[in-house]
Amino acid sequence: MRQAGRYMPEYRALRERHGFLEMVKTPELAAEITLQPVRAFEVDAAIIYADILPPLEGMGLRLSYEQGEGPVIHNPLRTHADVAALEQPDPHETIGYTLDAIRLVKRELGGRVPLIGFSGAPFTLASYAIEGGGSREYRRTKQLMYAEPATWHMLMQKLARLVSDYALAQLAAGADAIQLFDSWAGALSPGDYAEYVLPYVRQCIAVIKNKEQRTKNKGIENLYGEPSVAAPPVIYFGTGTAGQLGLLRQTGADVIGVDWRITLDDAWAQLGPDVAIQGNLDPHALFAPWPEIERRAADILRRAAGRAGHIFNLGHGILTETPVEHVARLAEFVHSVELR
Ligand code: CP3
Repeated sequence: MRQAGRYMPEYRALRERHGFLEMVKTPELAAEITLQPVRAFEVDAAIIYADILPPLEGMGLRLSYEQGEGPVIHNPLRTHADVAALEQPDPHETIGYTLDAIRLVKRELGGRVPLIGFSGAPFTLASYAIEGGGSREYRRTKQLMYAEPATWHMLMQKLARLVSDYALAQLAAGADAIQLFDSWAGALSPGDYAEYVLPYVRQCIAVIKNKEQRTKNKGIENLYGEPSVAAPPVIYFGTGTAGQLGLLRQTGADVIGVDWRITLDDAWAQLGPDVAIQGNLDPHALFAPWPEIERRAADILRRAAGRAGHIFNLGHGILTETPVEHVARLAEFVHSVELR
């Protein structure tokens, strides 16, 4: 959940000298930043340093990150013609810098921990592309969805293709798993999620896991003409999804990320035993005194109850002012707890 970032002094030192997009687009810098948290904390995986929005540039959207404002898209999608004009880019041509960063990180890691690649999921990407930036209400997004469903579906189809092409390219470059960020999926009613979003997430995950596609992509086959590697794990993350877990189960993801607005055992009861869960400490808890952080982390682990498929994580992105020593201590503490 944004392992790297401004809460780390070594990140801020680089950030003083480089713009955010410049760092994302320079493979050596992106690789170095990816490794910073792996060196600093006992994390069990690295996540590639990138962002969910740069892949949209290849479709024709103009992106910048403004100080204190977050991401801005300067030519947001407003009409059918805007959507029809979107390009369907080849990620090797438009996001080659992230693929190169993945190759560098894999070499540096030398197999010590796996590397997670990621992409925004179609709905969350659509919300930025339509609103032109972050949003609280998603008014324009829902307006397009309800008033022009055909345009909406065309957009989601194009984004689903972008997401799966991008994920497959990351896997081919060496990523060991893919996390799809649908951070704002919880803004939708379950009915709207089922109709306007779920089919496209299912499609992305099916393509990512599809053996033929992957064989073609990797060019590796075993003696029986089967792909020689198992389908990659896919983590599907959203926030505010407590009322949609039955639907999230249908995405086909191996792991569902949940935030702190639901307890872990409640989430598991709704998702069923054959899916893994990632979560779900409130990132604000890291500002509490250590004993309180420990109490909350222990509660999450108690609710996971030793299930094999628990990935301990924050329920959403780490905050900028988070005390680094609390992050280090939390990782140590989680590893110290005896699972039964
Ligand atoms: O841990 C990692 O290094 C993974 C890299 C990562 C980033 N963004 C780096 C980043 C990942 C996985 C993301 C995902 C992302 N980006 C999401 C989905 C997850 C979530 O938080 O819900 C979203 C919605 C975005 C879009 C985005 N990018 C926002 C809202 C912001 C914040 C802007 C701000 O001013 O804080 C970003 C910028 C961003 N992405 C930063 C980082 C480290 C901070 C950039 C900086 O140094 O100024």
